[in-house]
Amino acid sequence: MAVRLALLGCGTVGAQVVRLLHEQADDLTARVGAPVELAGVAVRRPDRVRAVSLDRDLLTTDALGLLKRPDVDAVVEVVGGIEPARGWLVEALRQGKDVVTANKALLAEDGGALHDAAVAGGADLYFEAAVAGGIPLLRPLRESLHGDRITRVTGIVNGTTNFILSAMDATGAGFTEALEEATELGYAEADPTADVDGFDAAAKAAILASLAFHTRVTAAEVYREGISEVTSADVASAREMGCVIKLLCLAERVDGAVAVRVHPAMIPRQHPLAAVGGAYNAVFVEADAAGQLMFYGAGAGGSPTASAVLGDIVAVARTVVARRAGGNGLRQTGLEAYAELPV
Ligand code: NDP
Ligand code: HSE
Repeated sequence: MAVRLALLGCGTVGAQVVRLLHEQADDLTARVGAPVELAGVAVRRPDRVRAVSLDRDLLTTDALGLLKRPDVDAVVEVVGGIEPARGWLVEALRQGKDVVTANKALLAEDGGALHDAAVAGGADLYFEAAVAGGIPLLRPLRESLHGDRITRVTGIVNGTTNFILSAMDATGAGFTEALEEATELGYAEADPTADVDGFDAAAKAAILASLAFHTRVTAAEVYREGISEVTSADVASAREMGCVIKLLCLAERVDGAVAVRVHPAMIPRQHPLAAVGGAYNAVFVEADAAGQLMFYGAGAGGSPTASAVLGDIVAVARTVVARRAGGNGLRQTGLEAYAELPV
């Protein structure tokens, strides 16, 4: 029996999720123990959907009706924004349906509402794609490093602004021209001022701080400065001083409290973060026992982000299969690799 998903949103990320579900259907069936299928896909304007491998009969404009259907096992949200996404996800979680989301804005504004709904419904919330696109970062923070004590998280977590600043530095491109290119490449948010003014990075910083320091931090609590005031002259001056300008996020413990900030900073060219170009992201994690760790990779774009969403879908689908088999829903994480000896 297939695991059936309601996909909410089919834009830059959603279309790539559809593509990967289609292209990797056989592999996913093997990894999950059942086929993973789309029960429906909710968008505002079905005529605009460009996902080539999508059966168009699955399209609907009624997201709430779709996620409530009894044949829907889990919900994948790649719409973005606070409402109506919050209402949909709270409803799905209260109904006991696991949710996968890439929606950092919602998590950073009202992750508490999602948590409470998940507890009430006995469901789980997966959000690996919400920070740093295709880089596996949140699962290490949520799981692998859970026995350690993290002291600081520093990094570049917004691909659009890093793309703009890198282009201004490397080619002397203008701010507006570089932003247009980042938007065309699918890196920018639906409203790119969320990127340029640092709101997106602040949301991600809040999520990172919450996971790293085991306490709820909202985007409103993050000190935020964007890059809209950074001029070509600033970039050129930094270059003359042997530096680059990057939009940094920093979360750390200070005197027992958690301090989180996002702002442009000058970095010496020999610093590892200076080499992070284009829409790439890099995050340093400092922990008492593990020491310094660095996570690096494609931080934005449909395909890398869909990779993170697919990883969460596999985890959710395994749980659904385990529950059906009468188990307790515990996930099996890749242990099947040892089920057969290599030939
Ligand atoms: P897009 O704007 O490309 O796609 C949004 C999708 O949601 C569209 O299909 C849109 O339909 C649909 N949608 C919007 N509003 C509604 C509504 N009220 N009812 C039904 N459907 C709706 O966004 P992205 O794919 O770029 O981003 C999706 C999410 O992923 C966001 O939370 C974003 O922050 C996050 N994300 C994006 C990354 C990226 O690189 N793009 C990376 C990491 C996370 P329609 O076109 O018909 O309006
Ligand atoms: N707009 C975001 C960025 C998408 O540029 O980083 C990835 O979260």
